[in-house]
Amino acid sequence: MSYPYQIKNAEQYQAAYKKSVEDPEGFWSEVASHFYWRKHWDKVLDWNFTDPRVEWFKGAKLNITENCIDRHLEKLGDKPAIIWEPNNPEERTRVVTYNRLHKRVCQFAQVLKNNGVKKGDRVCIYMGMVPELAYAVLGCARIGAIHSVIFGGFSAQSIADRLYDANAEYIVTCDGAFRGNKDIPLKSVIDDALIGNRTVKKVIVYTRTRTPVSMIKGRDVWWEDEMEHAEHQVEQEGKVSFPAEEMDAEDPLFILYTSGSTGKPKGVVHSCAGYMVYTAYSFVNVFQYEPGDIHFCTADIGWITGHSYILYGPLSAGATTMMFEGIPTWPDAGRFWDIIDKYKVNILYTAPTAIRSLMGFGLGHVHGHKLDSLKVLGTVGEPINQEAWHWYDDNIGKNKCPIVDTWWQTETGGILISNMAGVTPARPTFATLPLPGVEPVLVDENGKEIEGNNVSGNLCIRHPWPSTIRTTYGDHERCRLNYFSTYPGYYFTGDGAYRDENGNYRITGRVDDVLNVSGHRLGTAEVENAINMHAGVVESAVVGYPHEIKGQGVYAFIIYEHVHGDENLTRQDILQTVTRVIGPIAKPDKIQFVPGLPKTRSGKIMRRILRKIAEGDLENLGDTSTLLDPSVVEEIKRGKL
Ligand code: WTA
Repeated sequence: MSYPYQIKNAEQYQAAYKKSVEDPEGFWSEVASHFYWRKHWDKVLDWNFTDPRVEWFKGAKLNITENCIDRHLEKLGDKPAIIWEPNNPEERTRVVTYNRLHKRVCQFAQVLKNNGVKKGDRVCIYMGMVPELAYAVLGCARIGAIHSVIFGGFSAQSIADRLYDANAEYIVTCDGAFRGNKDIPLKSVIDDALIGNRTVKKVIVYTRTRTPVSMIKGRDVWWEDEMEHAEHQVEQEGKVSFPAEEMDAEDPLFILYTSGSTGKPKGVVHSCAGYMVYTAYSFVNVFQYEPGDIHFCTADIGWITGHSYILYGPLSAGATTMMFEGIPTWPDAGRFWDIIDKYKVNILYTAPTAIRSLMGFGLGHVHGHKLDSLKVLGTVGEPINQEAWHWYDDNIGKNKCPIVDTWWQTETGGILISNMAGVTPARPTFATLPLPGVEPVLVDENGKEIEGNNVSGNLCIRHPWPSTIRTTYGDHERCRLNYFSTYPGYYFTGDGAYRDENGNYRITGRVDDVLNVSGHRLGTAEVENAINMHAGVVESAVVGYPHEIKGQGVYAFIIYEHVHGDENLTRQDILQTVTRVIGPIAKPDKIQFVPGLPKTRSGKIMRRILRKIAEGDLENLGDTSTLLDPSVVEEIKRGKL
């Protein structure tokens, strides 16, 4: 048995696409009819991109956890919902059935309630990749609290900023997290983030690494104690229940912070109903999931890919989803392939940066693995280069598995442009065709649509899809300015794209000041702000450059007061500051000390020139006649790293 909304061949795709564009409301209400609603919607869609205002399934009532868990219990209760692979391959695996997931989520929802969390409250989650992270996320959704998951690579300062922005009163964390041969002291980072904080009322701490942690009386509580207490409350005579909060279709489900072209990350908000329908729909169709398949998405739940394609999409489709605590290169670079053979994984969804990094370790780590359970491969997060695509196809998929190159963003909630495995054709390095309901357009600088094929432009979307970003938390105007004002009437993605003769899209990269480092977004302004906080830094400019493994590397040009002694030590100092302010993920790969930055007479930094230098293209710097002091460029060229 497959899914009623599953597209099975190219003709069905064409038909679905046509219907979705001609009658979006009819199309999506049909898809939505296969979910569980407490109350049916009054209106399928209400929208304008001017405010912007996007409302799907208006008036409907639901709880996403009833769709992700409860409605599957009768048929799938004993089937695995989550299979967890620990960091250390010697440690015991955990298989969480739908029944068990139901129990744990009910229990944790009760824990939240016992600790005073109510519908609409913001709960910040800072945990490693353990099943308890899934219970925490879904427990929030069960009681209607808004979760804001923060990736473990962000610093105390970043957490403090996000807590403040979301006005969060509750935190769920771990004592520590295992990643490869490292123990990351998560609770201690939280403690630093909470110095001076007066709003956080409770911190719930799950024990994973049993590293010593400080526990503040009245504020910090142990997960295990709370869960044990709650167990008696939710379980009576062997029957588990915790009534799910009735949510409005448009109530916010979560906040996820992401970098943009300004210095401050934005809290992207997704709402309950549209996000649920779209993630399930795209999950089933892009990966061609069949009941019983094992889906392995290697992302961290701290990013949107983990939210949509480890948790909500697969679970609302009643799928079996893997959660992996560790990293692809530990204990060695064969770890993904070990996991695939161990569990007979059918779908592998990973990032080009991981593929390139594993490629670098050689085929020795792939040999000796069968990999014959694989049916579908996927990539996400950044453009994939030809070489990595073919390596993946030849050595992992053995030329038998379709590769889906899925383009989307935190703001889009789910995959918007991708081939569908075995249904529509792949073309290496192309995300290919839009999913039903998605209308991509290319526009020029003036916002004029570029028609026809074999053309490039700025990628926009014309009509809302169900998981469109709803707002940026606490600042709706920012949402309008960032996404809906550059090209009025469209959602602007910030990406550039090319459209080939068959209407396939190829994403060419960001056209704004956002870098994509190992598939993670970083704003150049955000990194510059962090560098500029370092004593001695006068000014800085950050640009991206092609990096063999990370896709893009971070190149910082820095004017420094005076470097005492060893330049490398000063570089290390600056890296420490960036690690403190943002986190290790934002550390520049190269730091060049410069006497000045190329500026126009009006004082604007000419990044185009710096980008060329960072790329090593020293001869074609273009027009430098508007520069205030062209000799600076010569000096920077001489010092290029
Ligand atoms: C880039 C990740 C090329 C793009 C889901 C986008 C891609 C940004 C692809 C969003 C792809 C994502 N091909 N580029 N298949 N997928 N991108 O918000 O620049 O972390 O704007 O969401 O990643 O990154 P985010």
